[in-house]
Amino acid sequence: MVHNGKPLNPFFLSSDIPDAYFCDREKETQSLRRYVESRSNVLMISPRRMGKSGLIHHLFQRPDIRKNYYTFFVDIYETASLEEFIQKMGREIVGKLSHRGFDPVRKFLMSLSSLRGVFSMDPASGMPVFSVGIGEISAPETTLEEIFAFLEKADKPCIVAIDEFQRIADYEQKNVEAILRSRIQRLRNTTFIFAGSERTILAQMFGSAARPFYQSSATMILEAIDPEKYADFATRLFNDYGKMITRTSVEILYDALQGYTYFLQRVLNHAFSLLPDDLVCDQEFLLACLDDILTDNSANYQEILSSLTVSQRALLEAVALDGTAANITSAEFVRKHGLVSASSVQSAARSLLKRQLLTRSPRKEYYLDDKFLERWLSRR
Ligand SMILES: Nc1ncnc2c1ncn2[C@@H]1O[C@H](COP(=O)(O)OP(=O)(O)O)[C@@H](O)[C@H]1O
Ligand SMILES: [Mg+2]
Repeated sequence: MVHNGKPLNPFFLSSDIPDAYFCDREKETQSLRRYVESRSNVLMISPRRMGKSGLIHHLFQRPDIRKNYYTFFVDIYETASLEEFIQKMGREIVGKLSHRGFDPVRKFLMSLSSLRGVFSMDPASGMPVFSVGIGEISAPETTLEEIFAFLEKADKPCIVAIDEFQRIADYEQKNVEAILRSRIQRLRNTTFIFAGSERTILAQMFGSAARPFYQSSATMILEAIDPEKYADFATRLFNDYGKMITRTSVEILYDALQGYTYFLQRVLNHAFSLLPDDLVCDQEFLLACLDDILTDNSANYQEILSSLTVSQRALLEAVALDGTAANITSAEFVRKHGLVSASSVQSAARSLLKRQLLTRSPRKEYYLDDKFLERWLSRR
């Protein structure tokens, strides 16, 4: 994707973004840095696709952080057990250590005596790999201890980011929270960044006295990027490539998508690649690009809708139309949107929350995290 040192499209859609194409987040980077520098574990929450993973990668790329810490990024979205959690950590540690050569990897693997003998070599690179199968992790708690003990002995402090941390609440084994918490609280050389988007689950995990992670971490809420900063950023990138865009068009797009980072990037990426060199990207062009994307997504959205019951669909459409909806079981809301009854709304809401099609804020307001789906539903 890179041409003459510049990417073909400067609006990145991945979460590991080079500095020049990463918008702002200066204050947030500072806050996150302060937490890890003071060795305080931190929980970072935001709606999906607002920029948590991106911010962590960005922090890990700071030259002084690279120099003074060992950093690890463990995404546990696809894990369903402590064994899989351990697999992910093991792979990430081996991956990072392999940049430093054979010996550090060998030392790490040797330190995991609970797994002795189950490693293999990658024939291509000649490096040992963490090829441990789930069934081979026979004493997960011991292996976890050994992994943490290895990090504790490192010659620099370690930062471990665990992304999509709310997953552990879904593990079948119910004491994983307690196991992790008791190990983590003893660590002196290792700081954790827990990130996740399911606010309700995380609030319970970290905020209720009965749960192991209660008050174990500072909390950081990641908000949308400042609209002025985003408009500066987007216009600068167009100009850098000799393309023209009006600032107003970016501001209007920002409002239409409520500043949700991924959706902004997606539309601007599309607009950037379609815009002819002699045209100015204005409001009309940007909104047409947004429409284009929604049309491309139509089949997926249709499929989602056809998997819903009539009352679930009606509620999703009603919330999409309102943007945010407070009293969804009130007589007024039910009447206004022609819904059946408060009780049918309530059970529909429960299913939609579970499927993450709807989100509920701490103030009990309902909205759609997927700003494209929201717009697609409300334009019909
Ligand atoms: N600071 C940023 N500058 C530019 N794009 C960003 C920035 N932060 C996030 N993004 C965009 O938003 C998308 C979602 O960000 P990500 O960090 O994966 O969100 P989250 O982890 O909160 O779900 C990224 O893939 C990227 O396209
Ligand atoms: Mg993420």
